[in-house]
Amino acid sequence: MGQEKFDDIGIPLFYVERRYPTSRAIELHPDLIPFLKTRDPPRINKESREALLLYNYYVAQDLFNLTIEFERDVAIVPTPVMRYAFLQHLIHPNCSIIEIGTGASAIIALIAAKCFNAQVYATEMDPTYIEYAKRNVNANKLENKIHVINSHGKFLDGVIPENLKVDFILSNPPYYDKILSPKVLWGGKKHELVGEGSQGENFIISMIEEGWKYLKTPGCIAFIIPKTRVATMNVIEEFLNEQDMEYDIIGILAGNRTRYVFRIYKKYFDSYFSEFDSNKIS
Ligand SMILES: C[S@@+](CC[C@H](N)C(=O)[O-])C[C@H]1O[C@@H](n2cnc3c(N)ncnc32)[C@H](O)[C@@H]1O
Repeated sequence: MGQEKFDDIGIPLFYVERRYPTSRAIELHPDLIPFLKTRDPPRINKESREALLLYNYYVAQDLFNLTIEFERDVAIVPTPVMRYAFLQHLIHPNCSIIEIGTGASAIIALIAAKCFNAQVYATEMDPTYIEYAKRNVNANKLENKIHVINSHGKFLDGVIPENLKVDFILSNPPYYDKILSPKVLWGGKKHELVGEGSQGENFIISMIEEGWKYLKTPGCIAFIIPKTRVATMNVIEEFLNEQDMEYDIIGILAGNRTRYVFRIYKKYFDSYFSEFDSNKIS
């Protein structure tokens, strides 16, 4: 994935590479044809949840050799290529990961384990999603690589084994302050979308605060967020700057949508959030 340009505020942008032409998809899977919006050029009707479910099922299968059972009715329909791009700019082979909020698909955990041979501790709070996630892990025979853990609505403390330290803590987090549209096509329950806090920032900030002690040195905490969530990002950047934390931001561009990936680094000199510095966050 080559860097192509910078966006209007100077963030380096990377195009999502591992594309899957729709022409190829319908050639391999003619059952997608009824879900086309236009035939020439072939374009999937992304306003149809049914179409998204089927298309992304085939993308996961054909590009990543993963069989993923998606929750059909309410959960977010994940795009595998975007999740792959997120990981590609972050992790390295054979690393260890905590993923917070793996969802019903467990897609980030599955791609990390399958394509990067990562060891993943994947948390989730929704009992139905946990069942799906476990089935997906088993269906892909990745039980030795992925542990699905019920967080019971907590973050890491009391969820992750106390002495565990990993290379990466990551999430595709909920980040809305409220659900704006009743017609959220790609789905999502409240806890899947809403991060609490005045700008939906609380999930991400809790992940950073609690995550720090579960992170190796060097290590990295990362999350992905649409470029349009400016208010959420402003609050988070303010927090990161107040704590004097080291981070960078890159953009991932898919079609005309940009998502930002925040990467927060724990380096050799580590003072944030340590036992000796517990007053830093009030
Ligand atoms: C935006 S979804 C991301 C799902 C999936 N990782 C993906 O990329 O499609 C966020 C997920 O976080 C879960 N979640 C919210 N709060 C949580 C918590 N405290 N602990 C674990 N999971 C949580 C939600 O149930 C939801 O599945």
